[in-house]
Amino acid sequence: MEIRIVKYKSEDYKKAIVLRNKILREPLGIKMTEEFLAQDEQDVHFGIFEGDKILVSLTYRIISETTIKMRQVATDDHLQGQGLGKKLVLFSEKYMKEKGYSHIILNARNSAIYFYNKLSYTTFGEEFEEVGLPHMQMEKYI
Ligand SMILES: CC(C)(COP(=O)(O)OP(=O)(O)OC[C@H]1O[C@@H](n2cnc3c(N)ncnc32)[C@H](O)[C@@H]1OP(=O)(O)O)[C@@H](O)C(=O)NCCC(=O)NCCS
Repeated sequence: MEIRIVKYKSEDYKKAIVLRNKILREPLGIKMTEEFLAQDEQDVHFGIFEGDKILVSLTYRIISETTIKMRQVATDDHLQGQGLGKKLVLFSEKYMKEKGYSHIILNARNSAIYFYNKLSYTTFGEEFEEVGLPHMQMEKYI
C-alpha cells in the first residue's frame, strides 16, 4: 500500500475520478460535470494505492495563503471502516502543513461528521444541503 500525490490528468487521477464517481456520485444518481471537474486542475490530490488500484481519494482546494478546503474524500466501499480514510487525512494534513497551510475547512455530509470528529474537526454554522444531502461545515487548525 502506498500514498501518492496524484497529478491532474495522470493515470492515477483518472482512477481517482472513477472512485469519486462510484462512491460520491453514483449512489445519488448524479454525475460530476465537466465544469466541476475542470476546477480539479488547481487542486492538490492524494490517493492510497495498492499497485495500480486506488483505494482512497482526497482533494484540497486552496482558499487562501492559510486556508484549504478538503473535498471529495472517498474510500472504496468494500474497504470502508478499516482506517484507510483516517490514514490519508492524517498524511495529507501533515503534507499541507509543511506547505504552510494552517486551517482546513470542509463540507461534511451528516453521515460523515463522526468520521471527521474523530480526526478533531469541529462543526460550525448551520446545516445546509449539497448534492441533495444535509451537510455541516467543519474545520480544524493544523
Ligand atoms: C467517510 C469515509 C471517507 C470514511 O473513510 P473510512 O476509510 O471508511 O474511515 P476509517 O476506517 O479511516 O475511519 C476512521 C474512524 O472513523 C470512524 N468512522 C468512519 N466512518 C464512520 C461513520 N460513517 N460513522 C461512524 N464512525 C465512522 C471509524 O470507526 C474510525 O474510528 P476509529 O479511529 O476509532 O477506529 C468513507 O466511509 C466513505 O468514503 N464514505 C462514503 C463517502 C463519504 O461520505 N465521503 C465523505 C463526504 S463528506
